[in-house]
Amino acid sequence: MGKTGLQLSALSFGSWVTFSNQLDHKLSDRLMGIAYDAGVNFFDNAEVYAAGESERIMGQVLKGKDWDRSSYVLSSKVYFGWKGKAKKPNQFGLSRKHVMEACDEALERLQVEYLDLYYCHRPDKSTPIEEVVRTMNTLISQGKIFYWGTSEWSAAEIMEAHMIAQRLGLEGPAVEQPEYNLFNRQKMECDFLTIFNHVGMGTTTWSPLASGILTGKYNDGIPEGSRLTLEGYGWLKDKSFTEEKIGRVRALQSVSDRLGVSLATMCIAWCLTNPHVSSTILGATRESQLVENLKALDVVPLLDEEVLQEIDQIMGTKPILPEH
Ligand SMILES: NC(=O)c1ccc[n+]([C@@H]2O[C@H](COP(=O)([O-])OP(=O)(O)OC[C@H]3O[C@@H](n4cnc5c(N)ncnc54)[C@H](OP(=O)(O)O)[C@@H]3O)[C@@H](O)[C@H]2O)c1
Repeated sequence: MGKTGLQLSALSFGSWVTFSNQLDHKLSDRLMGIAYDAGVNFFDNAEVYAAGESERIMGQVLKGKDWDRSSYVLSSKVYFGWKGKAKKPNQFGLSRKHVMEACDEALERLQVEYLDLYYCHRPDKSTPIEEVVRTMNTLISQGKIFYWGTSEWSAAEIMEAHMIAQRLGLEGPAVEQPEYNLFNRQKMECDFLTIFNHVGMGTTTWSPLASGILTGKYNDGIPEGSRLTLEGYGWLKDKSFTEEKIGRVRALQSVSDRLGVSLATMCIAWCLTNPHVSSTILGATRESQLVENLKALDVVPLLDEEVLQEIDQIMGTKPILPEH
C-alpha cells in the first residue's frame, strides 16, 4: 500500500449500502467467505454505513470465522457519525473528541482490538488539519490503529497533512480512498500525481462499477431491486442514471463483447491498470455478482494499449494533463 510495508489484495470488499440494507448476516457471511477464499485480504467499513449496523454485522461475521487476525486488513472511517439526523455537535466531524470516541465505538462494533486502517471519511473544514494529524498519531501510539488515511480529500489537504506531519515528526496519511471508475478519473490520474511521485501514497479506490451502472444492468431501464431503486438513494440515481452515461456504457459493451468478457469485469480490471491503485474495493449484493467481479484479475492482461485507447475514446473522461 503506497510507501508502507502493508500488502493489500488488488481486489477488496466493502459494505457501503449493502450490509444491513440489502444483505443480512447470513449473506454477508457468505460473501465475505467467498472473497477471503479467493484471496481478498482487505474489508472496508465506516461508522456511518447503515448507522453502525454494517460494522456490527462485519464484526459478528469475523467473530464466527476461524481466520487469523493477522491474515486480513480491516478498516473503518470517521467523519459522518452514525446517529443520522439526530446527531449533536461533536458526534460527527474530525475533532479530537469525535475521532477518539468514534474509534472506540468502531472497535466495539467490529469486536476487534485494532483497525489496520482508519480513514478520515471527508475533510472537516472546521477542524485544523494539525489536530487531525496529532489525533491520528495518538491512536497509532495507543495501538488502536496501524495506519491512517483520508477519503475524498483534495490534493492540497493531503499535502498540508504531510507537511504538518513532517514538521512534527509524526506519521502522515498513508492512503487515500477516492472514487475511481471510468466516469471519474480526475483525482487519480491528474490531481494526485505530485503526491504519488514525490511523497508516495496508497489508494483504495471505490465504486469501480459506478454503483452498478458500468455493469450494463441499467441500459434498458432500472431493474427491480437494484441499488438505484433503493429508498433514500434518489441523489445517487440522479447523479448516475443519465442518458449521456448510459449511452457510453452501451458503446463500451461492444469492447467487452469483443474481448469475450463481461462488462463488469472489464471495468473493474480497467481500474487495476492504473499502477497507483493499491486495491479496488468491490461491492456486491449477490454471490453471483461477487464471483463474477473477482474474475476481473484475469481480464487485466487483455487490456493492452490499443484497448485502453478505445475505451478512452468511448468514455471521453480521460483527464487532460497540464503541459510540462
Ligand atoms: N470512501 C467513500 O466515500 C466510499 C464511497 C462509496 C463506496 N466506498 C467503498 O467502496 C465499496 C464499493 O463501492 P460500491 O458498492 O459503490 O461499488 P460498485 O462496484 O460501484 O457497486 C456495487 C454494486 O453494483 C451492483 N453490482 C456489482 N457487481 C455486479 C454485477 N456483476 N452485476 C450486476 N450488478 C452488480 C450491486 O448493486 P445492486 O445489486 O444493488 O444493483 C453492488 O452492490 C463500498 O462498499 C465501500 O467500502 C467508499
